Amino acid sequence: MKKYIYTLSTLLLLLASTAKADEGMWLPLLLKKYNYEQMKAKGLKLTPEQLYDVNNSSLKDAIVWFNGGCTGEIISNQGLILTNHHCGYDAIASKSVKGDNILDNGFWAKNNGEEKPIPGMWVSIVIRMEDMTDRVLSEIKGTAEKDRPAKLQEIFKNITDEAKKGTGYEAQMREMFKGNAYYLFVFQKYTDIRLVGTPPQSVGKFGGDADNWMWPRHTGDFSMFRIYVNKNNEAAAYSADNVPFKPKHHLPVSLKGVKEGDYAMIYGFPGRTNRYEFSQGIELAVDKINPTIVNLRDIRLKAWKEVMDKSEEDRLKLSADYASIANYWKYFIGQTEQLKRLNVYGYKKEMETKFSSFAKGKAEYENILLNVEKAYVDYRPIALQRTYLTEGILGVSLNGFAASMLTYEKAAKNNTDTAGARKAIAAAKANAEEFYTAFFPSADEKILAQILEMYYNNIPAEQQAPYMAIILKSKGKTNTEKFKAFSALVYAKSMFSTKEKFEAFAAKPDYKKLVNDPCFAMVKSFYDHYINNYKPKVDAFNAAIGPESRGYIKGLMQMMPEKTFYPDANSSLRLTYGSVQAYEPKDAVKFTFQTTLDGVMEKYNPKDFEFQVPQKLIDLYNAKDFGDYKLENGKMPVAFITNNDITGGNSGSPVIDGEGRLIGLAFDGNWEAMSGDIVFDEKYKRTINVDVRYVLFLIDKLGGAPHIVNEMTLVK
Ligand code: ARG
Repeated sequence: MKKYIYTLSTLLLLLASTAKADEGMWLPLLLKKYNYEQMKAKGLKLTPEQLYDVNNSSLKDAIVWFNGGCTGEIISNQGLILTNHHCGYDAIASKSVKGDNILDNGFWAKNNGEEKPIPGMWVSIVIRMEDMTDRVLSEIKGTAEKDRPAKLQEIFKNITDEAKKGTGYEAQMREMFKGNAYYLFVFQKYTDIRLVGTPPQSVGKFGGDADNWMWPRHTGDFSMFRIYVNKNNEAAAYSADNVPFKPKHHLPVSLKGVKEGDYAMIYGFPGRTNRYEFSQGIELAVDKINPTIVNLRDIRLKAWKEVMDKSEEDRLKLSADYASIANYWKYFIGQTEQLKRLNVYGYKKEMETKFSSFAKGKAEYENILLNVEKAYVDYRPIALQRTYLTEGILGVSLNGFAASMLTYEKAAKNNTDTAGARKAIAAAKANAEEFYTAFFPSADEKILAQILEMYYNNIPAEQQAPYMAIILKSKGKTNTEKFKAFSALVYAKSMFSTKEKFEAFAAKPDYKKLVNDPCFAMVKSFYDHYINNYKPKVDAFNAAIGPESRGYIKGLMQMMPEKTFYPDANSSLRLTYGSVQAYEPKDAVKFTFQTTLDGVMEKYNPKDFEFQVPQKLIDLYNAKDFGDYKLENGKMPVAFITNNDITGGNSGSPVIDGEGRLIGLAFDGNWEAMSGDIVFDEKYKRTINVDVRYVLFLIDKLGGAPHIVNEMTLVK
């Protein structure tokens, strides 16, 4: 699952730990202490040092943080990386044009020279991690809550500077358990990354948004890249002289296949979970925030779809953004549905009731839940302000671009900062090229009108940005007409509405002209309105809830001393272990653990863009030409499910067997457990993985690139 960063009010931890649940995103450093015996009992054959070690090579050396939002794994001694298709999507789309459309047709480099450099792409490998809790807590002691974030930044900077000194490494601090623990992560970052290959998107994104977040699944969701380094095997900026990276470890690839009950673990960089959200946060998400995100995104998706359906060229330009908007649009639909179905609110309430009795008479904990409710009383009425700004007003492409001039406006006002103004113009100019190639004014115009109307209808009158009054002076009998008229005016008159007009402005910037521009004036009004009137309230809410969340987790740990707690996901390296497991999504329905190419053919629909199948794959299917990759019954495996605990950011993570071999790669979660970022539901939570044998088959037989398979270490 690809990472999406969102801020639900506050979040909590993670708990885990009855022997059977395979819940938990564990810190690799602590596996030996907390998890190893259980892992062994479940089928792990490796030593703790083979999982994570600092001095000798271990599995962790084959795991990469992929471009900040995904995970990948190194699967050859030539720095070959396997990750999801949807993780490589942007890069693949950026290399696709009409005439050389690798997004639709697929691509396999015949040799290193054909691999495509991807400017800006990077991966990082964890060198080591370290528990810094004692140091941070002692240095932060006595700091007032409102000064805490700044003080933490200062402490973090000192620690990371020390860790980096003289090494060429990167370092990051991560807060765990809402501030009860702190860990340092040291990385080596690599920036010369090249695209090695991808199946066509009819395979890599088969099922599209219709099947997204659902099992049974038939997607070959993978793509491949390679790390390049200098001649000394050191990280280096792109150079034609660079050579493939020789890793400390690469994962052997298993041809053995998976059976129900088999041990399976997933290593990767889960992005964010909110497992200890308070009941009030669930209520707010279900009733207000989630539906708002969904409805605002719906407007954009519908308008863009019209554009994409009309032209291949335009479809290619919008595909990547469309996919990422659609991904979390469906996520929030599913999360809301499952939060309700599984009565997560009730579950949280129950936990809070238990906590209350535990906290009674304990000064440290007694007032926590009361203070949380107090904070929500102030926050609830304004909670949609931020969503409307980020997903609404700034979600309109033109507004997003105009907002980049806010820095210029500030610098140019009264000529306060000429250098800053010049810099801001230069930055906007640099972005303009990309912006205007994928800018569709007529779709955008429709989007703006609808979003403004939605804002008008749903934000209480006294909370609306002052510019709304100006908008409502537009021509029209109904409000709908007024919003349309205003929107039409913006796209006719704004200096941002065409590249030529913007460039003319950028060549001769003029403060007055900018602030009188209808698009900029609107954006500035909505933006300032939030920053001046609502951001302080949001900050106050976070400052109020922060210590309560911290105390709540600390209290829960005391309340349940028999449990081993794991920290919420925060884009740091984790490991989750469990097994291959089927499930029953609802009464009388049983889903088996594996899908096959038969299912691809069942779903095949040449009239539906999301369910096309390349002719060559159909031919291979008809000829049963599956090489060594097929099941005993002669079928071609496609995907399987495990009960591992993953989330967005784990996309592309390796699924590893008890002997440290790659059996698949994680790419999604299932519909029935879409509330999983908030509560892990043992009965329903599954991870959806591509079977590595399908990956090999697609490279070898469909892609005609057996040399890439030969580069790997295959084991039977
Ligand atoms: N749900 C998957 C994830 O978050 C992404 C799948 C991308 N495919 C799509 N149809 N948008 O990782």
